[in-house]
Amino acid sequence: LGKDIIYLTECHSTNDEALERLRRREITEGSIIFTDNQTRGRGQRGNVWLSQAGMNITFSLLLKPNFLIPSEQFYLNMIISLAVVELFLEYPDDIKIKWPNDILHRSDGKIGGILIENIINQKGIEYSVIGIGLNINQTVFEIPKVTSLRLLTGKDHERWELLQILVANIERRYMTLKKKEFKKIKADYLAHLYRFEEWAMFDDGEIFEGRIKGIDENGKLNIQKRDGRDCFYGMKEVAFL
Ligand code: BTN
Repeated sequence: LGKDIIYLTECHSTNDEALERLRRREITEGSIIFTDNQTRGRGQRGNVWLSQAGMNITFSLLLKPNFLIPSEQFYLNMIISLAVVELFLEYPDDIKIKWPNDILHRSDGKIGGILIENIINQKGIEYSVIGIGLNINQTVFEIPKVTSLRLLTGKDHERWELLQILVANIERRYMTLKKKEFKKIKADYLAHLYRFEEWAMFDDGEIFEGRIKGIDENGKLNIQKRDGRDCFYGMKEVAFL
């Protein structure tokens, strides 16, 4: 992975670039599109992804996880989240995966996000565009509850070095996915999961206290409520308070 890196000084969104170049058959599995400035960066749930030019890591990686059946799809999210968390392990502690795949510092807020977009054919997923945005050297943010590696460590970081480590992490984790080591992947994901087995407040239309018990086979979040009821949520069905 990452043998073929396309560097763009600016683009709308590296995910859009990857999807377009894939359509034109210009890129193959392992290709990376990296940019210094996204003018229309996209986040999950139709949000925008803002990132100061030249400061951060914003790229997309093309994978071909056609060995996964639809119900195994969430394991791809898990290995990518793990690869990102592992990039930060040697830095300040307490960087966690907030389900499904936000990367955050427990008290200081979000440091990275992942947007995975799949190209489906008759047999299932053919390609996945893995878009990753990480706040590295940016220090001023327009929105609250956001942080960067610079803010957490007090120094600048070399983005290309981090990118290389991250791609190696993804490659290693991707091998475990190919070998279908699902039990281990899930256990590792839960070990880094924000609020796993902690009582906390959530909102599913009503505010309630609950604790995360796990992830079901479809990637839904299992939260146990105070009254003992087990609830399962998709992406838009629950918010963390
Ligand atoms: C999120 O947390 O909502 C996901 C953010 C994903 C941002 C990355 S930056 C590179 C790639 N290109 C995009 O337009 N989005 C992803």
